[in-house]
Amino acid sequence: MTTATDLAIYLEIATEAALAGGAVLQQFWGKLENIQEKRPGDLVTEADQIAEKAVLDVIGRHFPEHQILAEESGHQGNQDSPYLWAIDPLDGTTNFAHQYPFSATSIALIIQGFPAVGVVYDPFHQELFRAATGLGATRNRQPIHVSGIQSLANSLLVTGFAYDRRETNDNNYAEFCHLTHLTQGVRRGGSASIDLAYVACGRLDGYWERGLSPWDIAAGIVLVQEAGGTITAYDQSPQQLSSGRLLATNGHIHSALSHELLKVEPLNWSPPTLPTAP
Ligand code: IPD
Ligand code: CA
Ligand code: CA
Repeated sequence: MTTATDLAIYLEIATEAALAGGAVLQQFWGKLENIQEKRPGDLVTEADQIAEKAVLDVIGRHFPEHQILAEESGHQGNQDSPYLWAIDPLDGTTNFAHQYPFSATSIALIIQGFPAVGVVYDPFHQELFRAATGLGATRNRQPIHVSGIQSLANSLLVTGFAYDRRETNDNNYAEFCHLTHLTQGVRRGGSASIDLAYVACGRLDGYWERGLSPWDIAAGIVLVQEAGGTITAYDQSPQQLSSGRLLATNGHIHSALSHELLKVEPLNWSPPTLPTAP
């Protein structure tokens, strides 16, 4: 059994790891020499790789017996362990590569399939978001709570578009248009972990997205839950990390947002041909 004391220890180590990753991001800010495209629009840089190494050094030093799922180096460690660290060393790589300051290091501990510890560190705004099951959620060590907005009409939402958006009609374009009409706005932050942290601290009222990996969202899920929000699948059934699909809100607008998302039919639209590089 994992006690509150255990969770507090895991939270401290996750914090140490997130700060180490964030320090690497600051070091590489504006100095990238190696930006590669894994597939159209999906970038990887030396900052992703070196930040991941810094995070893995911390986690591996403290918990060599745990499993790791890290974006750049994959799944490793003892597969019998109930503890799985989900690591995104640089969430918001596209923003980072363009020097748009909206990126974070995101670290979660998933215990027996459930996210239990989450830390999201945005070094560009010096914001450290932390949470663990039963221990609450904080921003820079001060308690945070989701917003009290009660209706979609008064809400500000955020979403994102996965890297396979050019390959599928299920690309979230129709949902984005539909919700933009019904709300005060829908943002596209470009960092799922910060999007979720902003729902947790009440800056945003709801978030949905598809095509996500566990390392994008596991930390943010704990933040939203511990800040009093609601996490489910689009249809309000329990969220499954492996589904890649998530609905996160302040709770008050949850049913309304779910209802609207389920109404949306994918756009019957053919994308333009991408220009070739000169
Ligand atoms: C991406 C960001 C983005 C989301 C994408 C993610 P990355 O992560 O979180 O907001 O829309 O689906 O893949 O590639 O910058 O780590
Ligand atoms: Ca990510
Ligand atoms: Ca990443």
